[in-house]
Amino acid sequence: MIVSLICICAYLFGSISSAILISRLFSLPDPRFAGSNNPGATNVLRLGGRLPAALVLVFDILKGTIPVWGAYFLGIEPIWLGVVAVCACLGHIYPVFFHFNGGKAVATAFGALLPIGLSLGGMLIGTWLLVLALTRYSSLAAIVTVLAAPAYTWMIKPLYTLPVCFLTVVIIFRHRANIRRLLNGTEPKLGKKNVD
Ligand code: G3P
Repeated sequence: MIVSLICICAYLFGSISSAILISRLFSLPDPRFAGSNNPGATNVLRLGGRLPAALVLVFDILKGTIPVWGAYFLGIEPIWLGVVAVCACLGHIYPVFFHFNGGKAVATAFGALLPIGLSLGGMLIGTWLLVLALTRYSSLAAIVTVLAAPAYTWMIKPLYTLPVCFLTVVIIFRHRANIRRLLNGTEPKLGKKNVD
């Protein structure tokens, strides 16, 4: 019972689209209908610059971390923490408050995995930064990182490998437009304004 309640709360919390709300606050275009049409930090950076993008990034990470930590401190069985993480990410991707039109959940998934351990967080952020530094593609950095995430999780906390695999599949699916643009050479590099 308590687990179902926490999962619903995690989904509802994940459904608060910080990219849309912060864009409204800064009088920026709605990120669902401008740039890459993705309500996420990368697109807000494109549309409005560093400050709103940083706020979106922090809020989206917390949307993953807070429900998982909360569930942990409430004494939920470890096996259920992965389900709570998935619910928070599904809220971000399919937000009930925004016509189920959400983002790609890269930051929220990262935040949800942080409580597993700083070593996992370090490996994920290290991979993301390395690919970003080499290519300047935020989407490619996210794709490579989520593909590596199940292997990293298996090494550090095998118990959570299955939910992490599920998140990998969903996040890759959400990047299908980015993958198409990467393949035909039209994906914008980080900081570039236009998306073809
Ligand atoms: O985390 C989202 C990023 O991977 C891609 O964002 O706006 O370029 O589709 P965007």
